[in-house]
Amino acid sequence: MSKCLHIGNSNEYIEKFVKKSTELRLLAKGDGAEVMFQKIRANETVFIEPSDISETMEFFYILKGEIEMDIDDGKSFLHKGDYFYTHYLNETVQFTTKSELELLYVSTQPLFSHMSATMRELQELAKKVEEKDSYTHSHIQRVKDYGIKIGNRLNLSKEKNENIIFASIFHDIGKIYVPDEILNKPGRLTDEEYDCIKKHPSDGADLVEKTYYEKLGKIIIQHHERLDGSGYPNGLTGDEIMIEAKIIAVSDTYDAMTTDRPYRKGFSEQEAVDELKRLKGIHYDEKIVDAFVDILREEGVIE
Ligand SMILES: [Fe+2]
Ligand SMILES: [Fe+2]
Repeated sequence: MSKCLHIGNSNEYIEKFVKKSTELRLLAKGDGAEVMFQKIRANETVFIEPSDISETMEFFYILKGEIEMDIDDGKSFLHKGDYFYTHYLNETVQFTTKSELELLYVSTQPLFSHMSATMRELQELAKKVEEKDSYTHSHIQRVKDYGIKIGNRLNLSKEKNENIIFASIFHDIGKIYVPDEILNKPGRLTDEEYDCIKKHPSDGADLVEKTYYEKLGKIIIQHHERLDGSGYPNGLTGDEIMIEAKIIAVSDTYDAMTTDRPYRKGFSEQEAVDELKRLKGIHYDEKIVDAFVDILREEGVIE
């Protein structure tokens, strides 16, 4: 756990996003929530769209400036000290800035990542890796989906679930440095080739550590660690491995097993589950495997 008190001076922020008419600074994030400072030029129309997650609450407190908002029966003007918020928003809300506006902006769900340039670059990289490795089409999407389901089933905190989503998307970005011939080699790899593949967790962590999502690096570097210490790169054991990494290990392995490769046909879902069960408590966390098997059974994927 990182230390709990964070102090920021007036010009400090975790990351900044600037577009012509607006500037958004991420000041704090935790437990899935984000606190931002936003500046918007005068005479701009701003739209607040409903979020994918309907329970999202977005709160806006005016620090400076004036806005005009259309409300059911006419216009409303809001100034410094006034505030508004949306919760279970189902249609777009809009307002116009009458002068340069400064807002304190709080969201109960991570929104900044959608706007962050570095996050977008990393997502591009993740997409490129998927294209490089021609047999892993939609691998990321599936690893992410399984991860979310397992996280929910285990009642993990919002923060951990959020980590699982982003770490799943980025878990293999380090493969960008692995030559295509090695990545797509049919048949067995030589020791040197395998060593090259084994670098991808730390390379991926390095790439992410430069962003404000540095925590993800710790998860990414651990996604090939195994409970009994037989994994790589650090041979961590048991509780040394973060739960998020343990979850990705299970969803990643399951997806790899059930996918066809050029030199072998993928396992059936049942065979893959049997293998996970066989290595339960040895490679994979018991609770996680059990939760995952329950999910697959409920979805009718296995009997
Ligand atoms: Fe990997
Ligand atoms: Fe993977």
